[in-house]
Formats: sequence, structure tokens, C-alpha cells
Amino acid sequence: MDLKQYVTIVEDWPKPGIRFKDITTLMDNGDAYRYATDQIMAYAKDKSVDLIVGPEARGFIIGCPVAYALGVGFAPVRKEGKLPREVIKVDYGLEYGKDVLTIHKDAIKPGQRVLITDDLLATGGTIEATIKLVEDLGGVVAGIAFLIELTYLDGREKLDNYDVLTLMQY
Ligand code: PRP
Repeated sequence: MDLKQYVTIVEDWPKPGIRFKDITTLMDNGDAYRYATDQIMAYAKDKSVDLIVGPEARGFIIGCPVAYALGVGFAPVRKEGKLPREVIKVDYGLEYGKDVLTIHKDAIKPGQRVLITDDLLATGGTIEATIKLVEDLGGVVAGIAFLIELTYLDGREKLDNYDVLTLMQY
């Protein structure tokens, strides 16, 4: 299936010069969403993953159906102040600013094989920060899966030591 036909390009959003890749038109198509989920599920199975970790908000949309299909858990990475119990934190740089990401301290058991999921690899800042959280808790990053990679932003350079799957490249 050519997944790109389900992604809507929105010109000049959220600011002039940006061609935003809107995945909502992929998610609201049952066949396309299932196809994308199945691709990532097969990858996760191959990597013998025990847990999925995804950053808010769109990392949840990709990771949760994969976790359900595999019968493994999902641990959310959230912006500061959103998780109710003890967390560890990391600062990160975004394509459009800066922020802090957090994960519950007991979300990952040392040695667990983790698949990290998100919708988009842009500069790689979000995923680099998510990797740090997983590894700080003793998790092993077995793979990283995205729907979309913006190759011109070179985010993959930050992920040299990791196994990465991207379903669409722009
Ligand atoms: C977007 C996107 C990725 C990240 C990619 O999320 O969903 O998580 O940016 O950019 P990067 O590779 O340059 O870090 P955003 O931070 O906008 O959060 P949201 O999903 O909660 O809207």
C-alpha cells in the first residue's frame, strides 16, 4: 500500500515555509491505519520487543495499537507536569522550540527490550530525548519506528547506533 496517498500536506503550517505532514487523514482511514500498524508490529516482533514507549501525543497513536496487537505494555513519555508519580526528566530541542520530557521512574524494568514509536522523525530531538529516558531506566532500545522521516533534516544522524524503521520518507 502506498501510505503517502493518505498523508495530507498542509502548506505554511504552523508557520510560513513549513509543509506540515498531516497524518490524521491516514489514521482516520481504517485500512491505512491498520496497514501502518501491521508494518510496525512485524518489525517489533522481529526485534523481540517487551514494551513500547512513545512520546506524546502522536507517539501514542502509533505505539498503542502495536502494543495491543503484540500483547505487550505501553509506557507514555510526557511533557513536564503531566505524569502523577515519580519521574525522570530530560531537556530537549524541538524543531520549533525547547521543552522537557518525562517518564515514570518505574515504567521500564532494567534489561527490557523497548520499541520506541513516533509519527515523525524531523530533527531527531524528541527521539534522542526519549532514548535517553529509556536507557537511563536500564531499558534496551531494540528498535525505533516512525511513520514519516523528513530526510532533509538529518534526524537519522542522531540515531546512528540504533535500528530505525520509517514507513515514508520526504
Ligand atoms: C512532533 C512530532 C514528533 C516531533 C518530531 O511532536 O509528533 O514527536 O515533533 O520532531 P523532532 O524530530 O524535531 O524532535 P510535537 O513536539 O509537536 O508534540 P505533539 O505530538 O504533542 O504535538
